[in-house]
Amino acid sequence: MSPTETSSRKRALSGIKPTGSPHLGNYLGMMRPAINLQEEYEAYYFVADYHALTSERDPKAMRQSVYDVTSSFLAMGLDPAKAVFFRQSDVHEVTELTWILSCVTAMGLLDRAHAYKAAKDQGNEGKINHGVFAYPVLMAADILLYDSHIVPVGKDQVQHLEMTRDIAQRFNHLFGETFVIPEALVQEEVMTIPGLDGRKMSKSYGNGVDPLSPEKKLRKRLMQVVTDSTPMEDPKDPDTCNVFALYRLFSSAEQQAELADKYRAGGFGYGHAKQALFEVINEHVKPYRDRYEEIHQDVDFLEDVLRDGARRARERAAPVLERVRSRCGYGSGRNK
Ligand code: TRP
Repeated sequence: MSPTETSSRKRALSGIKPTGSPHLGNYLGMMRPAINLQEEYEAYYFVADYHALTSERDPKAMRQSVYDVTSSFLAMGLDPAKAVFFRQSDVHEVTELTWILSCVTAMGLLDRAHAYKAAKDQGNEGKINHGVFAYPVLMAADILLYDSHIVPVGKDQVQHLEMTRDIAQRFNHLFGETFVIPEALVQEEVMTIPGLDGRKMSKSYGNGVDPLSPEKKLRKRLMQVVTDSTPMEDPKDPDTCNVFALYRLFSSAEQQAELADKYRAGGFGYGHAKQALFEVINEHVKPYRDRYEEIHQDVDFLEDVLRDGARRARERAAPVLERVRSRCGYGSGRNK
């Protein structure tokens, strides 16, 4: 067996940065696919609170966001008896691996990262902290620390996965086979989820929809989806409409055909379409919302889940980190 073949089941791993509640894009692009993989894979999912420190300066908000995300995952079906669910900062080993990987990561690689480039293009290069620049290295450490094979992520994270592979290959080239080279798993059918304003749904644009928000709020939010100004009586084109694009993600082919007919026939306004959208989403998330409301105040329960997850994650991480340390020449090298 090669050093990286440590167990027969393949491992899936993913993380989510805890800044505000997860939105529909997070749910469809990452959370739902990740949860589905828990049946077949040895799954490791975490709340990336170290990553959040690049911008979060309020410790209360930091802790609370971790609880919010944890409750969302559990409500949406993550089973902590199957998947290992943990808080990134509970596994300190990841910061050690980050340093080691930093030393084989070219500045040029990090210079090309979309997120860093975007921050720089906004004109305040001098104010960007090193954490923003080094973000992809911490993310590589997150993934490589568990010998992960596949990483379910939204399309926006694909570049980070490519960088992770580059860094792992570079290390393997310099020190011998050490890391599993992971692959991104991207949901093709939900590649780009439009936000309320029609741009990609993103926390940084503030155009997201929190699927677990109370029913009234969800409805109000969905009524804000931007549409064109075609009058109520006129026929409309479903294929260019944001409401329809979102509807597609939560409905059957039959429902879609039916709604498309109504668009084309005219006499059907965007308000009606939004109501239909609200109904399909609400139907879908109702059970999750009930469960969320049950658990999200129960900090003891959430901490139990996170503590147990961290213990299991550290067990998986320890031999990998030991393998890496030994390759670099750390420790006596005798207990091999
Ligand atoms: N960068 C990811 C995001 O912003 C979160 C993340 C951190 C992550 N570490 C990861 C995702 C490792 C996948 C694997 O959503």
